[in-house]
Amino acid sequence: MIKMKYEVLKGLKQTGDCFVSGESLSKALGVSRTAVWKEINNLKEEGYKIESSSRKGYRLVSSPDIISRDEILLGLNTGVIGKELHCFDELDSTNTYAKKIAFEDCSHGAVVVADRQAAGRGRLGRTWFSPPGKGIWMSVVLKPDIAPGDAQFITLAASVAVAKAIEECCGIKPGIKWPNDIIIRGRKVCGILTELSAELERINFLVVGIGINVNHGLEDFPEDIRDIAGSIRMFAGTGGCLDRGDGNGMQGENANGMHEYCGCPGKYPVRAELIKSILYHLEKYYDMVYKYGKNNDVLECWKEYSVTLGRRVMVNFKDTRYTGVAVDITGDGKLIVSCDDGVAREVMSGEVSVRGVMGYMPENRG
Ligand code: BTN
Repeated sequence: MIKMKYEVLKGLKQTGDCFVSGESLSKALGVSRTAVWKEINNLKEEGYKIESSSRKGYRLVSSPDIISRDEILLGLNTGVIGKELHCFDELDSTNTYAKKIAFEDCSHGAVVVADRQAAGRGRLGRTWFSPPGKGIWMSVVLKPDIAPGDAQFITLAASVAVAKAIEECCGIKPGIKWPNDIIIRGRKVCGILTELSAELERINFLVVGIGINVNHGLEDFPEDIRDIAGSIRMFAGTGGCLDRGDGNGMQGENANGMHEYCGCPGKYPVRAELIKSILYHLEKYYDMVYKYGKNNDVLECWKEYSVTLGRRVMVNFKDTRYTGVAVDITGDGKLIVSCDDGVAREVMSGEVSVRGVMGYMPENRG
């Protein structure tokens, strides 16, 4: 059975800024003009702004910022990722739900999205603040035929995909703090939690959980993270585009109101558009990693966005803490830190604070 509302919306989106007549919609869909008119009204009730003219027909003026199957599937430009799509108003955690369906054998590339998470989870056992209407809370199930030790690389690829999507959709060049926090002007706008089910030599599945703060104002964040958290809305369209791509510097707008760095006027996207772009880039980078193994192009892209390399860092791992300068990442995604005690260490996990990012300002040792 065709979903009439989806088809009418598709017709409206296909004609872009132009009108489409009720007659041509009804002919294309094989239904009466009254049926089309009813669906137009349903769409208006959901928040779509649609101009109606008795002579010219209908024109989509704007789409609401809703997380719905229709909005995500229309224009999703992927081969596999997102084709199995689970959309919810509320879940405890999209990662928990994604793991459940992965155990029940969902397809590779299945995506779970919720408008709100009641118990969103972050890295290192933390919680993840996930209020309704404000962000993208999404998990992707991947089933790569790789060794568990290589999973870190897929997480790096996911962070590059998110950074690319933000840059494309919002005209802001974010930074990536190792391993996969997305940073704009020193504030964290996105975190990624990767969980895996594996045997000794083989991954059964990976769940890549992506949380992006999109619509928050500063006052929407709980006090304990207000100094370090940020959202896309806080920066897009306000000259948040970053020079040097280091996630900190700010180039601002030129006289024409365009970002000087990328020349675009800094946009503030609806969440579904950003989701589609992330899934597109995720598939692209995942395919690169999967086809060509631990891939230099992905590493180079990660380095291009890095706000960690070349900076002073503090590493906390269990009860150990050391400071130094992050000099590089290894082929499999470990951070190489040249420590103040003269030893170069490879960091695989733990908490890495980077000078100038998320409020970390250690002693000045160059
Ligand atoms: C971090 O601590 O930086 C990682 C945060 C990851 C949050 C996302 S939101 C969607 C998915 N579901 C969860 O419960 N967590 C991840």
